[in-house]
Amino acid sequence: MRGFVQTAVALSALLAVACSEQEARERRIDRLVSSMTLEEKIGMLHANRMFSSGGVSRLGIPDLWFSDGPHGVRMESEDNGWKPLDWDNDACSYLPALSALAATWDSGLAYRYGTVIGAECKARGKDVCLAPGVNIVRSVQNGRTWEYFSEDPFITSEMAVPYIRGIQSCGVASCVKHFALNSQAWHQYTISSEVDDRTLHEIYLPAFEAAVKRAGVMAVIPAYNKVRGRWCSENTWLIDTLLRRDMGFDGLVVSDWNGVHSTLGAARCGTDIEMGTAVKKDGKYDFDQYYLAAPLLEKVRSGEVSPSCVDDKVRNILRLMLRLDLVGKAPYDTAGMASRLATREHAAVAREVARKSIVLLKNDAGFLPLDRSGYRRIAVVGACAAERFALGGGSPKVKAKYEVTALEGIRSRVGAGTEVVFAPGFRLRNRAFQPAVHRFTTEFDVEDSRLVEAAVEAARQADLVLYIGGLTHEHGLDCEGFDRADMKLPYRQDALISAVLDANPNTVVVLMTGSPVELGGWERRAPAILQCSFLGMEGGNALAEVLFGDVCPEGKLTVTWARSLSDMPDHAVGEYPGSEQSVRFNEGVMVGYRWFDTYQAEPRYEFGYGLSYTTFRYGSLRLAPVWKKGRRSFKVSFDVTNTGPVDGCETVQLYVRDRECRVERPDRELKGFCKVRLRRGRTKRVTLTLDRRALQWYDADSSSWVDEPGRFDVLVGASSRDIRLEGSFSLE
Ligand code: BGC
Repeated sequence: MRGFVQTAVALSALLAVACSEQEARERRIDRLVSSMTLEEKIGMLHANRMFSSGGVSRLGIPDLWFSDGPHGVRMESEDNGWKPLDWDNDACSYLPALSALAATWDSGLAYRYGTVIGAECKARGKDVCLAPGVNIVRSVQNGRTWEYFSEDPFITSEMAVPYIRGIQSCGVASCVKHFALNSQAWHQYTISSEVDDRTLHEIYLPAFEAAVKRAGVMAVIPAYNKVRGRWCSENTWLIDTLLRRDMGFDGLVVSDWNGVHSTLGAARCGTDIEMGTAVKKDGKYDFDQYYLAAPLLEKVRSGEVSPSCVDDKVRNILRLMLRLDLVGKAPYDTAGMASRLATREHAAVAREVARKSIVLLKNDAGFLPLDRSGYRRIAVVGACAAERFALGGGSPKVKAKYEVTALEGIRSRVGAGTEVVFAPGFRLRNRAFQPAVHRFTTEFDVEDSRLVEAAVEAARQADLVLYIGGLTHEHGLDCEGFDRADMKLPYRQDALISAVLDANPNTVVVLMTGSPVELGGWERRAPAILQCSFLGMEGGNALAEVLFGDVCPEGKLTVTWARSLSDMPDHAVGEYPGSEQSVRFNEGVMVGYRWFDTYQAEPRYEFGYGLSYTTFRYGSLRLAPVWKKGRRSFKVSFDVTNTGPVDGCETVQLYVRDRECRVERPDRELKGFCKVRLRRGRTKRVTLTLDRRALQWYDADSSSWVDEPGRFDVLVGASSRDIRLEGSFSLE
């Protein structure tokens, strides 16, 4: 009892300190706002360079500096355009893409990843990091799929929250994006995403809500598209009602670059800063003519916009600045920053993420791992093996301090007695753009067929082939700004892989893809297939470690791999790409595996899937209700045993099925997961908790989350379909 009283006293003291800090901050904001002229205030509401917005130097309010994210700090570019400045000290860590981070299912690692990005932003003098992207993968054709975590809101939230905390622990604001419902590039500047309320709350909002409520994210970027007919950055329902009122967000809303369309729209909505608008004069960006610059001043003077709209925006900006302790301080000293970028510690995080993210899709008869000295000659085939990916993909491009390619990683890993020959098999290049369909097509020329012949010959003469292909960051593949035309491997890789397998059946296929691809007829014949996203600066080393068994693969898919596009819910029942005006998310909550599992459609590789070099047994499931503050939650415990030949790590997943409900619910939904690292032969008891929200659904009629009595099944497994333990309980 005494302990309890002491804790309560300590807690209320802490709360009092937090409250008084908050009050002091708000008072300071009031003082600053009241000392500013209207012109000074408006000067803070728009860009003054491509990646900064204005300050008020006489009051010690600095300019605010932004940078992309999410997997590295973007290189310096000119103030008034996009051209890189070619500095010799801004090369950074290049971490694996967020799709790779997600495939690790490792929240602790997501935090460390965030600290690398945060530390390097700080070193580069950036205040706000434009990351992470938490959009749900609805359409796998979206060129940004590789930038996002998953099709599932639970794992997206569980990875985004620590990532944000990691960045913000370095005194840099994280800016979560793109709010909301941006699931395709097709007509994204004109299209309105139409979704029902339940789907919005159950699928598309949770990661933003977690970012705000659990991670305390300091900034948000609205998406380019419209929602319910209004552009996100001018959408008062989205920004003022859902984000600010319902989620309680009191930070900065900064428009996406060129995402504002009118002065009144943005002024009257909770968007605070306008960035990247393409208003130009003599070929240069004319920041003074931005919607929230001179035109806004005019509208305030004429009485069309109330001065309090301006004050509210300035307040939100100052709140973020005070949280970062930027006001009245000398600018962060960036001298010698190069020594704080891509440090050994940062490289170690990059490598750990890369190695833990690689997914073993297929491994017939234990073909992998490879014996390092078991081959006289290895043929590495596939242009992706020698590709450096850091500078591609659109806004997340990174000037990496270095990037170890797959070919380099393999070469440095094999024994001295092994010759490694490289045959690209195809040539990467900018492909033909077809404006009519807003897509790219792949064309092949004579030279390519010579490359194929050379690759087949190299395969024939080798004891082992490592085929390293997949997608790239070219326009129309895994790249911002365009959707993929289909799910096929580009550059006729299906035919190339088949020809290589004909020449040498000892062929391991490595697919570097940040989004799912269709697997051609060769799949059956390939003894082993690995999938990895873009693996960052240590990628080649990490891949070699997995291939040669230095580490046991543990990555699992966070996006369903369908057999073909027509099986995907956006094609089967939803709408993709919609019209120029709108796209309706008719599949509702049945996104990704929710669709496949509810309607018994067969994916090629299901959500949560990934093999290991070892095996795991699950057992002794126990469900126990726990009462806390009059609320019931459930503890789910079970044993996991490593029954295979090597040490390894299993990602156990917990799904819930609501058996009695007045609305149709997905057959199963991910509500917990955990990584279990086990030496061979060892067993660990795992306990996961299902809280109240895990069982609820969102009722659009009452605009609230509903607890509905009835039976619930608990499914514990190695993937969404490889369920090893089942139990059930009733909620009264
Ligand atoms: C992207 C954002 C990015 C911004 C700044 C936009 O095109 O949608 O994700 O942060 O550019 O580079």
